Amino acid sequence: MRIDVLNGVNLDVLGRREPAVYGSLSLGELESQIYRWAADLECNVRCRQTNHEGEYVEMCHDAADGVDALVVNPGAWTHYSWAIRDALEYVGRPLAEVHLSNVDDREQWRRHSVLDGLVAFRVVGKGAEGYREALAFLAQTR
Ligand code: DQA
Repeated sequence: MRIDVLNGVNLDVLGRREPAVYGSLSLGELESQIYRWAADLECNVRCRQTNHEGEYVEMCHDAADGVDALVVNPGAWTHYSWAIRDALEYVGRPLAEVHLSNVDDREQWRRHSVLDGLVAFRVVGKGAEGYREALAFLAQTR
């Protein structure tokens, strides 16, 4: 099973950005962990990150080409980017939405997700572990 893990805006500075909220792992460390979990689950994962919304949209389009499922954490775009929702709707594959922090228990503006109704699985507030749960969920849909 092929899964793309698409991290969005500001997730490149993980580990340095509010570690009390987002954890102390760098993006590289998080991705290494994701690759280990994927190997255990016998999934073929590709991790990607960008700070550019149009590039994220293109990453979603790329996923339509041969990827079976996606794990997405679009960062702040989650709360307002209808372009990203449209792109993920176009992909039409099972989706798992991950947020390191508990967005449902933070500022009001973080409580809304443009991905509502589109994702098969959503996990918030579990840090890196959320990505493992998302992969495990998607792996059992195959
Ligand atoms: C985030 C939550 C978003 O509200 C925030 O803008 C992020 C990270 C998370 O993983 O907790 O950049 O998606």
